Amino acid sequence: MFESEINRRRTFAIISHPDAGKTTLTEKLLLFGGAIHVAGAVKSNKIKKTATSDWMEIEKQRGISVATSVMGFEYEGHKINILDTPGHQDFAEDTFRTLTAVDSVIIVVDAAKGVEAQTRKLMQVCTMRKTPVMIFVNKMDREGKDPFDLLDELEAELGIGVRPLSWPINMGQKFKGVYNIYQEKLNLYTPNKQRISETVAVDLNSTQLDEMVGEDDARKLRDDLELIEGVYNPFDVKNYLSADVAPVFFGSALNTFGVKELLDCFIEIAPAPLPVAAQERSVEPHEEAFTGFVFKIHANMDPNHRSCIAFVKICSGKFERNVPYRHIRLDKQFKFSSPTAFMAQKKETVDEAYAGDIVGLPDTGNFKIGDTLTAGETLHFKGLPSFSPEMFKYVENADPMKSKQLQKGLDQLMGEGVAQLFTHQNNGRKIIGTVGQLQFEVIEYRLLHEYGAQVRWEPMSLYKACWIESDDAAALENFKKRKFQYMAKDKDGRDVFLAESGYLLQMAQQDFDKIRFHFTSEF
Ligand code: G4P
Repeated sequence: MFESEINRRRTFAIISHPDAGKTTLTEKLLLFGGAIHVAGAVKSNKIKKTATSDWMEIEKQRGISVATSVMGFEYEGHKINILDTPGHQDFAEDTFRTLTAVDSVIIVVDAAKGVEAQTRKLMQVCTMRKTPVMIFVNKMDREGKDPFDLLDELEAELGIGVRPLSWPINMGQKFKGVYNIYQEKLNLYTPNKQRISETVAVDLNSTQLDEMVGEDDARKLRDDLELIEGVYNPFDVKNYLSADVAPVFFGSALNTFGVKELLDCFIEIAPAPLPVAAQERSVEPHEEAFTGFVFKIHANMDPNHRSCIAFVKICSGKFERNVPYRHIRLDKQFKFSSPTAFMAQKKETVDEAYAGDIVGLPDTGNFKIGDTLTAGETLHFKGLPSFSPEMFKYVENADPMKSKQLQKGLDQLMGEGVAQLFTHQNNGRKIIGTVGQLQFEVIEYRLLHEYGAQVRWEPMSLYKACWIESDDAAALENFKKRKFQYMAKDKDGRDVFLAESGYLLQMAQQDFDKIRFHFTSEF
């Protein structure tokens, strides 16, 4: 019973460049799961483009999204957990961390636009973690790129092998459907935003196909399929699970088309909860003792209720309500009387949850990103790296009477993963690094409203902060001495090199070949 509960779980994230159709696809998956009954019911977690300068508005929209941060539903005996990721690029770090809590990923690509910037960036995280990915090429009801060209583009841009498991019959106005290579069935297209279309088994060599899609398209489909068999190796699940090959599906999420093919294949081949690496050992999901880690903290923007929800990914065993668990960093026992689970868009209190699930724990400041909870064992889960920020500012105290508040506020906000704090070795000044301008505004506002502290930003021109290490202690010391005015410490006291430009970074890499430069904090 315990084993089968875990085995039937599939925990994944959908990623895409904004507007490719992530929200629409999520909604359609929920529709199949019976979790919702009409399309349009999922509150979009999408941040409207018009609001980019108004981050309060963005936070409001993010507030709505607490419930949709994780969406669980049942489908064909499987418990599926979709972890939502913010679309706005300024929250990319949130997305990176969410990707550490999933066992697989579905990438949505717009058929007309192909691989876009945000997708490329997120794929790097999947590659780093060897996360199995499936690709859904969306918007086939519109004119898009030639499917073969798209496959080449996916392979080249995402750095992964591809294998089509469904194939479109024409596109745009002439779109007639998809042939499900995996199940050898034909799914004819009828634009319909609500109805789930039926598929029929069809013999490719029979005249039935010609009758269904017309002679020309039937001939083209046969030729295309022959070409696919010639060019691509037969699909092997092992290559998908090892993250070497991504199966590709074509369809139109808006028209609920090609989505069932994706979902049916997904539940069959996507991995059940996988082992998770802790510093001490690898933790198997089927171990009886509960373990988990915090991968996301959602703050309440209302200053009168300074409470958060800590999202915990269960790595092993069963989590139970009101059972004491050990918070490793604080070495303290905590019991949770109202843990929440997420079904469809509802947040509800749960008594138990299993490896693969996400539980939300109400928190008043005890948790930081990356914290481990266990039934007692001392473990520290790895794999929540910080990524090199891209924007930097000195942060100064603007109200000398409130320096304690500022310290505390910064400490907590950094613990939530809002941004990263570095201390300059040369002058002791504090530097905040982010992936987008919005975070500076969020920090300033929250420090003032939640902690009564005021900050002043001072610009600095930095290209990148990277973590450095070397097997040669003397070489490391020499580097730190020579580059003293460019050295900083991160929150854990590790050495960080502040490169002022791409050129200077390149020069440093060339001149100091015994030093390794890292762009994530975990290496
Ligand atoms: P995102 O979460 O990845 O940002 O994308 P989202 O699902 O919100 O979709 C972006 C836009 O693309 C939406 O249109 C949506 O209706 C449309 N779309 C999604 N799937 C398909 C598809 O298969 N075919 C076509 N033709 N369009 C699709 P919008 O006008 O921006 O928003 P809305 O007013 O329709 O909600």
